[in-house]
Amino acid sequence: MQKSVYIKTYGCQMNVYDSARMADVLAPRGYRRAETPDEADLIVLNTCHIREKAAEKVYSELGRLKRIKEKRLAAGKDATIAVAGCVAQAEGAEMRRRAPAVDLVFGPQSYHRLPELLDRARRDGSAIGQEFEADGKFDTLPEESASQGPSAFLTVQEGCDKFCTFCVVPYTRGAEFSRPAAAVLAEARRMVAGGTREIALLGQNVNAYAGEAPGKIGGGNGGGGNGGVWGLGRLIRELADVEGLDRIRYTTSHPRDMDDDLIAAHAKVPALMPYLHLPVQSGSDRILAAMNRKHTADDYRRTVDRLRAARPDLALSSDFIVGFPGETDEDFAATLRLVNAVGYAQAYSFKYSARPGTPAAEADGQVPEAVKAGRLAALQQLLEAQQAAFNHACIGRTMPVLLDRPGRKPGQLVGRSPWMQAVHVAAPDGRLGTIADVAIGRATANSLAGRLADAPAAPPRDRVEEVRAA
Ligand code: 5AD
Ligand code: SF4
Repeated sequence: MQKSVYIKTYGCQMNVYDSARMADVLAPRGYRRAETPDEADLIVLNTCHIREKAAEKVYSELGRLKRIKEKRLAAGKDATIAVAGCVAQAEGAEMRRRAPAVDLVFGPQSYHRLPELLDRARRDGSAIGQEFEADGKFDTLPEESASQGPSAFLTVQEGCDKFCTFCVVPYTRGAEFSRPAAAVLAEARRMVAGGTREIALLGQNVNAYAGEAPGKIGGGNGGGGNGGVWGLGRLIRELADVEGLDRIRYTTSHPRDMDDDLIAAHAKVPALMPYLHLPVQSGSDRILAAMNRKHTADDYRRTVDRLRAARPDLALSSDFIVGFPGETDEDFAATLRLVNAVGYAQAYSFKYSARPGTPAAEADGQVPEAVKAGRLAALQQLLEAQQAAFNHACIGRTMPVLLDRPGRKPGQLVGRSPWMQAVHVAAPDGRLGTIADVAIGRATANSLAGRLADAPAAPPRDRVEEVRAA
């Protein structure tokens, strides 16, 4: 069904870019851009905190939107209001208290989660991205975690010390901070008690996780000493012991922080799902150096090899940037070679866009827009072909699917495969929130469809004819 989204963007280049990506991720769901909020099923305010009284301006805009929403609802139309970006980040849950017309709140750089947050809002009445828990205030309310549903997010880490030269995160989000392991475990137990079966551990640099070990809270010799800190591998192993937690994921990771213990967790922990988002950005060593990624394309390939040795069915996803300053045709060809060598199940790719205040924004050799567009099209063609091949290879297989939301059609549920594919299946509502074996019968570029393996198969056509004839 055709729907429309109105996105109002405040502030910096980064927000302009994030807004464009939001429109992109919504397009496959049938959303086109609306010119005014009055004609939109979904209104997004992508906010900026830089100007004085930024939050007040957003609240006064929300007052106006509330009236539009009321009018649309009275006319039987959809009207969902989402607030994204840095004001959402700063206000967090407070935003919904002060402006109850708001359905959805999520922080910067999480546009890719918009479709899933929308589903959650539709199901639960509202949704709050956990990533907005700014400034180390990881005070998620228990009732929020309880309402997240079968598949939930749990923020374990914030900020980034990597300073990739294209990225604003180290400036906007500050230094790396990890939530103490005991708090993460307690939160996970609460979520599972509330019906959650799958937890995705979130962090800007999640595999740099270094959380205070339980039992050390409140001190000891300066804290954080030997054995006093858990890495992500250890955290995952401990989470796997939480009764009722069937699936664990984590995102987003940096190749440099993929340590032995975390790689070993992929071999040892069956609940750790065989899908990893491991952004590489480029396949050219020259560009990787200019990006300050601190690894080469070969380092990345070796890390992938070790991960696949640990978990042979691991599927990979990545982020790519094309047209970084100084990128030549040969550099771009190296990116295509890397994609061919690794083989991705899914990926995000972007044209480089200068973000004020980052080193790359000032660099020589900015690449013309038309060149960027050409490279992006070529890269996306390759990545889409890989994704389609990955999905088609699933036909005929039976796989466990966490059925986490109703489908568009009655009698249909949608879930996630272990490899993050959306799977559509005819199933009664009572199966919602359970993990079911699904026999995959069809695949599209973006999703799978199948039937419950424990349901009788529809008789083949000729058999139907036979029965009728009999
Ligand atoms: N230009 C283009 N893409 C960017 N990303 C981050 N900053 C920029 C930028 N300036 C992409 C990276 C990152 C993802 C979240 O967004 O690929 O991994
Ligand atoms: Fe940005 Fe990620 Fe690089 Fe950190 S590691 S600077 S968040 S791209």
